[in-house]
Amino acid sequence: MTKPYIYITRKIPDEIINPYVEQFDFKMWEKADEPVPRDILLEEAKRADGLLCMLSENIDKELLNIAPQLKIVANLAVGYDNIAVDEAKERGITITNTPDVLTETTADLTFALLMATARRIVEADTYIQKDLWRNWAPYLLAGSDIHHKTIGIVGMGRIGEAVARRAKGFGMSILYHNRSRHVEAEKELQATYADFKELLTTSDFVVSLIPLSKDTNQLFDRDVFDKMKSSAIFINASRGATVDEEALYDALRTNQIKAAGLDVFTEEPIRANHPLVQLDNTVCLPHIGSATEQTRTDMLNLCLDNIAAVFSGNAPKTPL
Ligand code: DGY
Repeated sequence: MTKPYIYITRKIPDEIINPYVEQFDFKMWEKADEPVPRDILLEEAKRADGLLCMLSENIDKELLNIAPQLKIVANLAVGYDNIAVDEAKERGITITNTPDVLTETTADLTFALLMATARRIVEADTYIQKDLWRNWAPYLLAGSDIHHKTIGIVGMGRIGEAVARRAKGFGMSILYHNRSRHVEAEKELQATYADFKELLTTSDFVVSLIPLSKDTNQLFDRDVFDKMKSSAIFINASRGATVDEEALYDALRTNQIKAAGLDVFTEEPIRANHPLVQLDNTVCLPHIGSATEQTRTDMLNLCLDNIAAVFSGNAPKTPL
């Protein structure tokens, strides 16, 4: 009997697929650091029974139309804005993502970005690298306090809640805005639900953890940055396209808001000449929210578990 053919869109460690080689025929794109070219992906999709893909791959109608055998797309991310989910479901294709296993890791990075931005850690390191340190001075690289300030979390899903737990440890007041109320977070973390405008006008830190959808596309626009305090710090660890980057750039350049920490951008990867990278009051990271060795391994294992479940007629652990 022929084994199901699974195409993996990056080079991943052999140890991860080894437990499954009896069951599946695997092929991987040969590079770990570069996405598979679109034409190769489309060719592979024509004969794939399953795809294990990254957020860099667009699993759209064009691809689904030429993939008659496809039964599962296992996305190595919790976000799935790269996938035409409804189209896939109409064709009976299972889509899975990787929630839970990356929650705490992504919350760590989000909080690290908040701290790095508030306390100007990257600027301070660069200051020494550039050999500029001559004297101690009272306001040398003075940043913003984090403890006992107000954090406003936009998107109180699992990661939002994990960020709120960290904020609680810093004695912060926690506001959140979400499609629905999060009663447990209100009880356990003393998080307070706020409407969007109230959150924007009262938070010292506005943290976006909202999934990208047609409703959240460019949610953070000029009007939104206008409403924030001039001392506010904006953190985005969700998707770049939730932000109007030109509006953010203007708000940062004119000190309409104080600083920003960004792990995600509208078009990734960005280059060193991107306008936001030129600003001293902005910390930019290359989309590394869930990037620890353990978590990336857990995410890959979860993708393969999901694929194995579907082909043995069982429910995958984390379907959409
Ligand atoms: C996700 O899982 O959606 C992250 O952005 C990938 O690190």
